[in-house]
Amino acid sequence: MHRFLLSTLCLAALARSTPLPQVKKSCQRYTLPLNITSLNLKWALEPLETNEGAAAYNTQTGRRDAQSVFHPVTLPTTPETAIYTISGTFCQPTSGGNGTVLLATHGGGYDRSYWHPSIQPESYSFVDYAVAQGYPIFYYDRLGLGQSEMVSGYVAQSSIHASIIKELIKLLRSDKFGSPASKVALIGHSMGSAYSNSVLNSDPGLVDAAILTGIAYNITSKGIADQAKQSRLAKLQNPLKWGDLDGGWTVWVDVYSNIENFFKAPFYDREVVQWAEDNKQPSALMEGISIQITNFSSPDFTGPVMIMSGEYDFIVCGGYCPGVLEEKTTAVFPASKNLVTYVQPGSGHGINFAVR
Ligand SMILES: *[C@@H]1O[C@H](CO)[C@@H](O)[C@H](O)[C@H]1NC(C)=O
Ligand SMILES: *[C@@H]1O[C@H](CO)[C@@H](O)[C@H](O)[C@H]1NC(C)=O
Ligand SMILES: *[C@@H]1O[C@H](CO)[C@@H](O)[C@H](O)[C@H]1NC(C)=O
Ligand SMILES: *[C@@H]1O[C@H](CO)[C@@H](O)[C@H](O)[C@H]1NC(C)=O
Repeated sequence: MHRFLLSTLCLAALARSTPLPQVKKSCQRYTLPLNITSLNLKWALEPLETNEGAAAYNTQTGRRDAQSVFHPVTLPTTPETAIYTISGTFCQPTSGGNGTVLLATHGGGYDRSYWHPSIQPESYSFVDYAVAQGYPIFYYDRLGLGQSEMVSGYVAQSSIHASIIKELIKLLRSDKFGSPASKVALIGHSMGSAYSNSVLNSDPGLVDAAILTGIAYNITSKGIADQAKQSRLAKLQNPLKWGDLDGGWTVWVDVYSNIENFFKAPFYDREVVQWAEDNKQPSALMEGISIQITNFSSPDFTGPVMIMSGEYDFIVCGGYCPGVLEEKTTAVFPASKNLVTYVQPGSGHGINFAVR
């Protein structure tokens, strides 16, 4: 698995500078109804209807004493079950894979196209790189986004996303997509890494390896990143696109906020930034709340883990990852047989879209 991790790492480092040759892959889209059981937080405030409300909410979550004075949710009592429909794409080398399959979960602000953007895919597609290395990959729109089922922003949360990942792992190990996976490696970006990590806590035996990008474990800078986002209600920001969403879904205010949070000058291509802004996706308020109380500690996960974030990641490293990224990782993954942290030079939080 060590070679696996290293070759995957090289992807991120090399994909920018060396355009991929035409990749021989076969891809199929799937619409998957999943039976999800999870312990869910419940929204305890009035729904948000205005941007004044969003601003007031931001000042409450950003308060230094928010933990003790702000109570937007009530804790779960009993598990809940629901059928959620997830839309995803399975791609594999035309020659087939060798049994190891990647399960990719995107982060906030994106949908599945984070892994295979329509802009300059020869430079930025993780899917094409993984397939060129021989790995089948399943990548999907998280619940509430893209072509997956729409849900309330007061409902979409960590426990549900993690249960969806668990169900997807089971499908990858079945014959749903062709030959069953013998090994499953989770790969995540940002919130997608957090939800993947949550599965390593709750169901370590389901997973063989994990590559978690855009994540760190000693975050002291969350407040400044949240301020830089200046969240607005998605339904008011772009009624044509998001008019059907409830006030629980928010987006950062504009392209400059996007740059501040996800990119780092001069390591970006302005056209790619514009693509990211034009394709930006809302985040659920309940995702932001639930992630703060998600248990990442994974004492029983023994597989290899790579933690990888951009050198100048503003969201998880307060703008500079060297010296911070490795903090607390051995406490989170004490039993991993190969725990690696890697800082990607010249990259912000949106690690797949940096240019060196
Ligand atoms: C979903 O799973 C739950 C718990 O395992 C089960 O009780 C229920 O019957 C399932 N629902 C459907 C529609 O399969
Ligand atoms: C599959 O291929 C990768 C990359 O060449 C290799 O590291 C791995 O051991 C192979 N076998 C399995 C079962 O994953
Ligand atoms: C987090 O999960 C770990 C592993 O299951 C457990 O030992 C620990 O007590 C949990 N922490 C909290 C705060 O629940
Ligand atoms: C976490 O960050 C704080 C603040 O920068 C620092 O004092 C502390 O030593 C760090 N903890 C670990 C375990 O590295």
